[in-house]
Amino acid sequence: MFQSIQPAAPDAILGLTEAFKADANPDKINLAVGVYKDEQGKTPTLAAVTAAERWLLDNEPTKSYLGIDGSPGYGKATRDLLFGKDSDLVTNGQAVTFQCPGGTGALRVAGDYLANNHTGTTLWLSDPTWANHHDIFRAAGLPTQSYAYLDSATNTLDFDSMTEALSAVKPGDVVLLHGCCHNPTGVDPTTEQWQAIATLVKDKGALPLIDFAYQGFAQGVEQDAAGLHAVLDICDEVLICSSYSKNFGLYRERVGALTVVAADPSQAANVQSQIKTAVRRNYSNPPAHGALVVEHILSDASLTDQWLSELTQMRSRINGMRTNLRQALDSRGVQLNANGNGFIEQQNGMFTMSGLTKDQVAKLKAEHAIYIVGSGRINVAGITPSNLDRLCDAIAAVVA
Ligand code: LMR
Repeated sequence: MFQSIQPAAPDAILGLTEAFKADANPDKINLAVGVYKDEQGKTPTLAAVTAAERWLLDNEPTKSYLGIDGSPGYGKATRDLLFGKDSDLVTNGQAVTFQCPGGTGALRVAGDYLANNHTGTTLWLSDPTWANHHDIFRAAGLPTQSYAYLDSATNTLDFDSMTEALSAVKPGDVVLLHGCCHNPTGVDPTTEQWQAIATLVKDKGALPLIDFAYQGFAQGVEQDAAGLHAVLDICDEVLICSSYSKNFGLYRERVGALTVVAADPSQAANVQSQIKTAVRRNYSNPPAHGALVVEHILSDASLTDQWLSELTQMRSRINGMRTNLRQALDSRGVQLNANGNGFIEQQNGMFTMSGLTKDQVAKLKAEHAIYIVGSGRINVAGITPSNLDRLCDAIAAVVA
């Protein structure tokens, strides 16, 4: 049976990590996958995480199964972070949370729920979006459409084109919005724009799905939830797929969540029961370790403070590196955009959409062993003082 199987195309992002590992060039640089690195180029385990793991080793009472929706304490901690501790939504039953294997798992569970329960739904994705969004929802059986997002002449949000494209959304459709630190562009709407987008989605009778994988990487944990809160103020039904891969550095532990906000607790319970069937068919119940680490950190005030300070350090390093990258390009006379390189400092989160063309990206890889995503997305969180000059010299060479 396997004789007729042809090789699949490598993944647009993780495939580059495989190619990077196979590259023999000792000076190779991987700025493709969205993983944070410190000044030394290492992806650290956060001290708060290590402390929580030590605590778990002594205190985890069992390795028996979690419920289909995961640990209730983790669900509550997730809602605290999303909505704010004082929000009614944390405990009033209108919002239910599923612990899921990573943000990807949460998105796939959401896709399965939508495909099984909302016949005829089209899912709208920004153009561009995270490459895996298309595959996840296609695999779930949901048709997708794209809405305009980026003005590539200025590398800023093309709000008029975005809202014009979203005017074609039909009742019952789902509009996926990146909660902050848009992947791949780093370009986020203002709060006023969020309000206008939420109003448009509500007026269309559509459901917003917020992909919230980078909370804390733009301005701070609370500030980064402003877009989500603007949507919640306007829409009474929302899906949220969140992830702790980046903000807790728990990448390989696969820690994410799907949170459903419904108009009332009984509707939330009905949706919850449908999602339980989707999870049971897929992976039965989620893995415990990483989620219990997050739950413990968020239930302990001093560990929470430690985590917030480590998150601030990561965010500050990335933002400092945005300035260094802009200056290093300026000093070589490289201008990635007609309006200059200032956009690099205005974008949020790990990524900058550089404006480099596919050919230039291919040359960076072939001639300089520098790996960035084909769309021109650079992981700023992977740039260090020791690879910055080599990166900028290579960019100067490929744009010349
Ligand atoms: C990315 O966009 O690089 C990350 O979200 C990692 C991934 O799984 O693609």
